[in-house]
Amino acid sequence: MSRKDEVLDVACGSGIVACAFAEDAGHVTGIDITPAMLEMSEALASQRGLVNLSWHQGDIESLPFPDNSFSLVISRYAFHHFPRPDVVMAEMVRVCRPKGRILIADAALPADKVDAYNCFEKLLDPSHHRALSIDELQDLPANAGLLNVQLAFYKMEMDLEQQISVMFPNPGDDEKIRRLFREDFGVDRLGVGAHLRGDRIHFAYPITVLIAEKGIAKHSN
Ligand SMILES: C[S@@+](CC[C@H](N)C(=O)[O-])C[C@H]1O[C@@H](n2cnc3c(N)ncnc32)[C@H](O)[C@@H]1O
Repeated sequence: MSRKDEVLDVACGSGIVACAFAEDAGHVTGIDITPAMLEMSEALASQRGLVNLSWHQGDIESLPFPDNSFSLVISRYAFHHFPRPDVVMAEMVRVCRPKGRILIADAALPADKVDAYNCFEKLLDPSHHRALSIDELQDLPANAGLLNVQLAFYKMEMDLEQQISVMFPNPGDDEKIRRLFREDFGVDRLGVGAHLRGDRIHFAYPITVLIAEKGIAKHSN
């Protein structure tokens, strides 16, 4: 990352990642569909004194940028909201320059756990669409023709009550979630390692980070 980098943050939310990249990049553009999120992004950038950012409201299935505009195209904790992740990936690749990089970080589960995981996440966060299995996430760059795909994994530890308080599940679903988690102690059907810490339920989102490179287009004739 250098001042030569032009970064696009896809589904930037409240701008945390975009602002972190702006500390080192030449310019960062954030796009999100939710105006309230973009207001938070602007507030965060001005609070940090960052002036090398711009914000766009729009749907990431059709990015309002020309081909080959950015050297790095990123998206964190957002692919689980997208009904057509392959379409979003194709758009990220289109706006990325040849030899530029695409970075995606999101929850991804082993194939035998992904359905149960998605059931609890939809209860917790009604805007959740579907987390991908690790294999499905890995297929995205392969199907988009990206090169040098690298994967890394980490776990994001959470307190269940704290998550419930910020995610606004529908009335009554909070109790269903607590029951699902208690039933999952020592079983891990949900894939999040639910357990008790003192008298509080804790769990961890399994995050996959995927980074890949856009090749140089080959021209016939
Ligand atoms: C969980 S937040 C992630 C925010 C941010 N990337 C981060 O890491 O902090 C998911 C974001 O995706 C946005 N989003 C969901 N569907 C979208 C779409 N079709 N087009 C643009 N943004 C979308 C939501 O508005 C929300 O801000």
